[in-house]
Amino acid sequence: MGAVYINEHPLVQHKITRLRDKTTGTNEFRSLVEEIAMLMGYEALRDLETEQVDVETPLEVTPSPVIAGRKLAIVPILRAGLGMVSGILALVPTAKVGHIGLYRDPDTHQPIEYYCKLPTPIEERMIVVTDPMLATGGSACDALKLIKDHGGKKIKFMCIIAAPEGLERLKQEHPDVQIYVGHLDRQLNDHAYILPGLGDAGDRIFGTR
Ligand code: PRP
Ligand code: URA
Repeated sequence: MGAVYINEHPLVQHKITRLRDKTTGTNEFRSLVEEIAMLMGYEALRDLETEQVDVETPLEVTPSPVIAGRKLAIVPILRAGLGMVSGILALVPTAKVGHIGLYRDPDTHQPIEYYCKLPTPIEERMIVVTDPMLATGGSACDALKLIKDHGGKKIKFMCIIAAPEGLERLKQEHPDVQIYVGHLDRQLNDHAYILPGLGDAGDRIFGTR
């Protein structure tokens, strides 16, 4: 079974509290999503590949590691996952970025795919899939299947809020994927929204309704 990492860092938890607050406006919400992604990315990327280069210090030349940035692909699930990309790119500016477009049908809550463009070759890259919300898990599971169908192998999934139902489904359907969660919430409501949650992440990031 794939590993699940539930974040407990006070900085992340503080920022999630600000995200939950319904009076937090679009501008602050967007910045918080970016900052949380960066803090979570620091942990999630601890096994990122490095390569040795020679660096000349004021005293001598020494081999020293640098990030093999072209080995990383960030793949946001549109729309809301986009809000997390800049936070991870701030850590690894040379990462490639793919996009998967999915939206939930408002009645059935089933994800509907409308876009997929991934960096090639995808096989040899570490892939970090971002989406702030893991609710039923339908969108995340479909996105991961799509990436695997394109040849993706080493995949991590990063979300800010997860519902127990979605986390369980993701673990069952994609046991090979490492899952990073900012906070595990209580449950889904009848409309498959996360409780206590933060509302509609896409709408709050982009200022739509
Ligand atoms: C939200 C969210 C996830 C999905 C989670 O996207 O960003 O992608 O719902 O729900 P699930 O786990 O039940 O699939 P939404 O469909 O609202 O699209 P948007 O990001 O374009 O607003
Ligand atoms: N998508 C969201 O944006 N929020 C939820 O609570 C569930 C799905």
